[in-house]
Amino acid sequence: MKKRLFSGIQPSGDVHIGNYLGAIKNWVRLIDQYECIFCIVDYHAVTIEYNPKDMQKRILNAAAVNIASGLDPNRCIVFVQSYVPEHTELAWILNTITPMGHLERMTQFKDKSKQNAENINAGLFTYPILQAADILIYKSEAVPVGEDQVQHIELAREIVRKFNTRYGETFPEPKEILSEASRIMGLDGKAKMSKSLGNYISLVETPESIGKKLSTAVTDENRKRRTDAGNPDVCNLFTLHKHFSKNEQIETINAVCRTAEIGCVECKKILSNNIIETLTPIRLKYEHLVNDQDYLLNILHTGAKRCKEIVRDTMSEVKKKMGLI
Ligand code: TYM
Repeated sequence: MKKRLFSGIQPSGDVHIGNYLGAIKNWVRLIDQYECIFCIVDYHAVTIEYNPKDMQKRILNAAAVNIASGLDPNRCIVFVQSYVPEHTELAWILNTITPMGHLERMTQFKDKSKQNAENINAGLFTYPILQAADILIYKSEAVPVGEDQVQHIELAREIVRKFNTRYGETFPEPKEILSEASRIMGLDGKAKMSKSLGNYISLVETPESIGKKLSTAVTDENRKRRTDAGNPDVCNLFTLHKHFSKNEQIETINAVCRTAEIGCVECKKILSNNIIETLTPIRLKYEHLVNDQDYLLNILHTGAKRCKEIVRDTMSEVKKKMGLI
């Protein structure tokens, strides 16, 4: 029997290369090693202000991008969180055993509260409990995520220990799986690449737009003139070279940047070509899929149907242990 793996992504409009390098690439790599369940977490996404008119499109886009990136629906489950209401049912139960103090420590809550000062709602605060429910309801053991989610997985483990101690052994402790690129910085070089900061390259960005975004991206800030020697160790774009360029190119750039034999413009052109080469097949597949709504909805509902069979068993075990049935 394969161990179960769960991960999720918010339908936030544009899936970017940070999501891809930090999480999705690992999902695709592990797809046959585990019994994989991938979730578009729409209930998490509604904790911040949004336009309801856009949400369906965002959900279908997220499905299309992920499938185009390699989540083959014949080899894994892909579904939408709200299609399986037991996630929120278990989240309620987990609410009752999660100390407020643990939630107050969550750095993502602190960051999001700053970004959404006008709407710090209870859902934003209990967000990690719903995330724990997502994972635990499938008794998942592996959770491939980027570094920003590790604190949430740690909390999920604490919740498991609390539940098991109070009601008897029920859930395994989930463990995060980090990629080599667990924290990709944004093109501004200042903050983590993220949708909300607009410092990203989308997975379905056109070649022209990739070139344009890279042309203004921040490199080694100490390199003021073309003739100055650069330092790839502090250059955010060199990190991207490590993930998109060929080994010989990476070695050469590492050397000639330091001796000013290559300038940032030329270096960015090489990176741009390599990113375009990696992303073009994903974009083409996405463009084909995204117009086939019936196909996408069928995959998402078929996935949810399989999930419902699993969660029915977990919820009846949980309720029995709690004396509710
Ligand atoms: P989300 O939608 O913000 O991001 C999806 C995945 O992409 C990773 N990621 C990054 N990795 C590296 N560098 C970056 N700049 C970068 N930006 C994003 C994230 O770490 C994540 O793995 N709360 C989750 C979704 C979620 C979930 C779950 C995940 C809900 N339930 C259960 C795992 C298990 C989130 O907001 O991810």
